[in-house]
Amino acid sequence: MSNTDIYGNEKPKPMNFDWLSNTAKSNFDGDVINSIVRIIDDTISGPGDSSFHQATLLAIILSTKPNNILELGCRDGRSTHSLLVGCQLLNLYGIESKLTSVDIEDTTFQCPSHLKHNWNFVISDAIDFLKNQSHGYDLIMIDDWHTSEHVYNELTLLKPFITNKTIILLHDLMHSNSTPEYNDTIFTDGEFEGTGPWGGVNKFIQENGSHKYELCTIPVNHGLTIMRKI
Ligand SMILES: C[S@@+](CC[C@H](N)C(=O)[O-])C[C@H]1O[C@@H](n2cnc3c(N)ncnc32)[C@H](O)[C@@H]1O
Repeated sequence: MSNTDIYGNEKPKPMNFDWLSNTAKSNFDGDVINSIVRIIDDTISGPGDSSFHQATLLAIILSTKPNNILELGCRDGRSTHSLLVGCQLLNLYGIESKLTSVDIEDTTFQCPSHLKHNWNFVISDAIDFLKNQSHGYDLIMIDDWHTSEHVYNELTLLKPFITNKTIILLHDLMHSNSTPEYNDTIFTDGEFEGTGPWGGVNKFIQENGSHKYELCTIPVNHGLTIMRKI
């Protein structure tokens, strides 16, 4: 068989599925494996809300390698766990990565001890927290209060720190299972007041130049949107 492809380039070596780096061979113990299995389990057969996005959160961390992650909205720690497992895996490969989670209420998340050293949990209103921020984050997950105004204000406060390398994730732009469409139902009060988180993102993008931001949404479990400044 020829060693060159149809373009005349040398063919890459065939994939060897037995291959593992020494880092992987020596660092993947029970705790780490259990955490990864938990994420896979939740993604494939979890109860819903953000379950099906958990492997995506992990994959985004592994590929983009953020040093500094911010999570707005923690609750019982479903997404917090996946983000922390991402930090831990990067650490095993010598890459610094840590997570700050902000919630207006205390969390019921019982952080496993092997993940604690990368986690900073802050009880605060997200807007107050963002007003006092002094630096940016490489990866931001927005999943707290879902009114249009609140999400718009969050993005506006984040804006001075957003670069074209920052990745912003938003849950619930397709809330109430409006998938695959953004939910633009008008609410006069309550958690989705305005047109929910989609309304906040849309207003922010219209104001700041729709050609300057790109959005892509995974249309399951109320939508996980990946937003990026171009
Ligand atoms: C949908 S839950 C977060 C779920 C979590 N991200 C997950 O996927 O498992 C929303 C959280 O936002 C918090 N929250 C509501 N309003 C907030 C605010 N103004 N600032 C910060 N957190 C807020 C709530 O206490 C709640 O824990």
